[in-house]
Amino acid sequence: SAPDPAPDLAPAPSSSPAPELFTWEFATDPYPAYAWLREHAPVHRTTLPSGVEAWLVTRYTDARQALADQRLSKNPAHHDEPTHAKGKTGIPGERKAELMTHLLNIDPPDHTRLRRLVSKAFTPRRVAAFAPRVQELTDRLIDGFAGRGEADLIHEFAFPLPIYAICDLLGVPPEDQDDFRDWAGMMIRHGGGPRGGVARSVKKMRGYLLELIHRKRGDLGDDLISGLIRASDHGEHLTENEAAAMAFILLFAGFETTVNLIGNGVYALLRNPEQREGLQSSLAAGETGLLETGVEELLRYDGPVEMATWRFAREPLAIGGQEIAAGDAVLVVLAAADRDPERFDGPDVLDLSRRDNQHLGYGHGIHYCLGAPLARLEGQTAIATLLTRLPDLRLAGDPADLRWRGGLIMRGLRTLPVAFDP
Ligand code: HEM
Repeated sequence: SAPDPAPDLAPAPSSSPAPELFTWEFATDPYPAYAWLREHAPVHRTTLPSGVEAWLVTRYTDARQALADQRLSKNPAHHDEPTHAKGKTGIPGERKAELMTHLLNIDPPDHTRLRRLVSKAFTPRRVAAFAPRVQELTDRLIDGFAGRGEADLIHEFAFPLPIYAICDLLGVPPEDQDDFRDWAGMMIRHGGGPRGGVARSVKKMRGYLLELIHRKRGDLGDDLISGLIRASDHGEHLTENEAAAMAFILLFAGFETTVNLIGNGVYALLRNPEQREGLQSSLAAGETGLLETGVEELLRYDGPVEMATWRFAREPLAIGGQEIAAGDAVLVVLAAADRDPERFDGPDVLDLSRRDNQHLGYGHGIHYCLGAPLARLEGQTAIATLLTRLPDLRLAGDPADLRWRGGLIMRGLRTLPVAFDP
């Protein structure tokens, strides 16, 4: 098959009209529209499908600065939103409720305190010790379809892997993990859609987490929730609500992102056969260098988080020369910034060996992804194991038939049908 032609389109010529955003074509391939915005309207005010007005920041330099700018608050209370848009900037089904008081919705000093507490429990060492378990989960999932010669990699692989991994890490007992999978499935399927089911799932999850935290308080283990409880016992206070919100954000932030890292990543590899063959040879030779730079490149090239989560101007400021009023909503478009030719050579080319690759896929500044070490572990394990165990993995069907989820913050495929020799 030929390499992916779509993402390599040249930037639109300056005479072309402003592209339409948030259409079906845009969800399939937003990169030509982002190239136009970077060039002609790098800080662009738009009305989102939800009716909320927001500024899109698309150039790398502006994006990186905005992510670190403390004048942009994460607290939705700073949003000067019209009444009809109220509640449309939060996690679906959990507007203004207890689980919303989490890292991605708060500013210093609360953010500093909570992030310090969770960092004590969620250490790179804990993640490294988790590697054999991630490998075991990965192999078990591949065992489930390896004999069949075909699979949907989203539903049978990319979706279950992170949910079981986070459940294990948090200390959710195995017998409860399928409930979690169902609640998470509801959230990912209906993230922007019918609210009732999502609200019910979030409510059930919150009830479950509070009970689990309560149970663990009396019987501390080696898991992350026990670690959170222990960390809070050393002089600093973490309430049960805060602990539940923390467990929830770890699930919420670490789930769909990882699904999409695996889905978008494998898809990009299958559309770029030379790159994929290079990676397979290096894995066969027992090397890990190309796998490591490669997963970073997949994050840059077509990362899971299209736009960073909401920011709101707490005072008037300028971004890239554009005046932003106090109360305005700002969305930093990571996917656009990471294809900026001012920052990356040949930004539309997938180059797994790319070294100068300070992409923004995990964000930047104080909200930089807390789960990046776990995401890297899962992404590297999943991709290396798939390519090694199913060396002739190929797309089944026409790429033009693939559907993207079309949410605002995340970018990912609904299904990824593949075939291989069993
Ligand atoms: C924050 C990306 C996986 C937990 C973020 C942010 C990004 C991001 C872009 C910053 C958002 C912003 O500034 O608005 C990703 C990607 C992942 C991934 C691309 C997978 C490939 C994970 C995992 C976990 C996790 C596995 C945990 C289990 C978090 C948390 C935050 C965060 C807790 C909030 C940090 C804070 O506000 O201080 N992530 N993430 N992420 N991520 Fe991830």
